[in-house]
Amino acid sequence: MSALEHEEIIVRTGPRSGLPVIVAIHSTRLGQAVGGCRIWRYDHWRDGLDDALRLAASMTRKCAVAGLANGGGKTVVAVPNGAVLDDARRADALRDVGDVIASLDGRYATGPDVGTTPADMVTISERTEHVFCQPPEHGGSGDSSPHTATGVAAALRAVCERRFGSPDLGKRRLAIAGLGSVGGHLARQLADAGASLVVSDIDPIKQDLAKELGADWAEPDAILTADADVLVPAALGGVLTRDIVPRLRCGAIAGPANNQLAEPAVVDLIQGRGITWVPDYVASAGGVIYALSVELHNETPPDATGRVRGIERAVGEILDTADSNGTTPAEAARALATERLRR
Ligand code: PHE
Repeated sequence: MSALEHEEIIVRTGPRSGLPVIVAIHSTRLGQAVGGCRIWRYDHWRDGLDDALRLAASMTRKCAVAGLANGGGKTVVAVPNGAVLDDARRADALRDVGDVIASLDGRYATGPDVGTTPADMVTISERTEHVFCQPPEHGGSGDSSPHTATGVAAALRAVCERRFGSPDLGKRRLAIAGLGSVGGHLARQLADAGASLVVSDIDPIKQDLAKELGADWAEPDAILTADADVLVPAALGGVLTRDIVPRLRCGAIAGPANNQLAEPAVVDLIQGRGITWVPDYVASAGGVIYALSVELHNETPPDATGRVRGIERAVGEILDTADSNGTTPAEAARALATERLRR
């Protein structure tokens, strides 16, 4: 039997929504656990549980590497395939989530994630105060996705400097897989920086954004293997599989999607191809860094943005450490997280 790594896991049929509500606290070693609330469809609620466990563990590493005095957790509302989720049932699910979080007495706080918005955080706040990123008119720091995008752009500058000799993204071709809230903001920022872009999304309506930005469009099954300097996974996790690695045509991979590796061993295959992979939990920390800096530490928005930009230095140091120790950036980042968690 492999050991239980998580401090606490709550799985409950939401009394209002009838939906599986899963809250996983991975670690409060460094402080209150934080991690977004995901509302997503799964074949089986146990798949949602697996997702919550992996994502919560990743939040612990994300906070540790970002230097935040917080631990990791995650919430998943596992919507059965085929179930109808109208506005009323969705709001009920969010209240169910709020009740579970309230029962944890501040050991865990949530925020937006895939499938939830700042407005949803207001609904959760009916039941608990432990929620980040409510809209500013409700006293929160609002949408975290532009800040996550800013952090990814910072990570991209660091990896491009090491890999191609210049942090200037205007000299690079980038392939963005996913134009959701983070991917969309990122595409805009990168287009503004003068980057050449190829983009994709499962939703064909996003071709409008591609056109507006002058980006090339690729079909979702072609974007991962597009010819580009850097591949930017910006949708769901698990995209870096054993099968895809031999077909990659990029020099580096860095993006905001959480849990990009289909399995841990894929890291070595990527490294074996001479491709630099920046761990997702390092590149994607901008949103949580911003929200916590503003809401917990009362920093000004410019100061919080300055911290988010610090991801450029953090990624640079991780890449340099990996280089001088002859290991992977994944290994270097994990060692850094472990060291901070031990202290
Ligand atoms: N979705 C965010 C992440 O994965 C979670 C989050 C954002 C939590 C902002 C709190 C505040 O990092």
